[in-house]
Amino acid sequence: MARGFFITFEGGEGAGKSTQIRRLADTLRAQGRDVLVSREPGGSPGAEAVRHVLLSGAAEPFGPQLEAVLFAAARSDHVEQVIRPAIEAGRIVLCDRFMDSSRVYQGVTGNLDIDFMRALERVTVNGMVPDLTIILDLDPAEGLRRASARREHGEAADRYEKEKLEIQRQRREAFLSIAEAEPDRCVVVDAGQPEAATAEVIRKAVLAALGAMEAEPVGAEAGR
Ligand code: TYD
Repeated sequence: MARGFFITFEGGEGAGKSTQIRRLADTLRAQGRDVLVSREPGGSPGAEAVRHVLLSGAAEPFGPQLEAVLFAAARSDHVEQVIRPAIEAGRIVLCDRFMDSSRVYQGVTGNLDIDFMRALERVTVNGMVPDLTIILDLDPAEGLRRASARREHGEAADRYEKEKLEIQRQRREAFLSIAEAEPDRCVVVDAGQPEAATAEVIRKAVLAALGAMEAEPVGAEAGR
């Protein structure tokens, strides 16, 4: 059976990841593809339990290292229980945040040691590196404005959304540096455009990447 395809969505607050993931899932399903949508932190029962601890802020007083290990614990469970089985079954997995969020939120703005973060990422991801990462890029002021407009519609602010604009700026730069360092995996998409225009750019990038994967000779993915 053909191997599936793993796509992650990354970016700051209010960039519209979940809306764009929904739209892409609809597009791919309309083509008859088998799509699984997931998110981090969470995505498996074990990881959802850890998500609650992280997003409530209960872990925050114990510092970024403890939080990084908790994000990693959640990711490891999610990878082994959900993502790897889906990819092995030939499905397309769309995940709202993954390892790049840890690199940026814990590694860069949490100021954690780079070797520690690399080692944690290696054991956590355990080879399940995304085939494609869509980085939704947005001016942080606009992102925060969108996030607070969303809250007025009834969603509670999580502790991350309360953080300062300056931190969001650092995170934007960090996501862009990842994209620059790994151009084969990452595509930066301007999320400041109207929703439908952003969706169209994503659709094209994903179909191009899927087309390239499907054109590979059988067995070419064995080394991945
Ligand atoms: P969520 O409510 O899912 O927000 P968003 O819509 O921004 O994705 O909250 C997830 C928060 O967790 C988000 O602010 C980023 C943070 N996070 C990390 O700090 N490290 C990680 O590895 C992941 C996956 C998320």
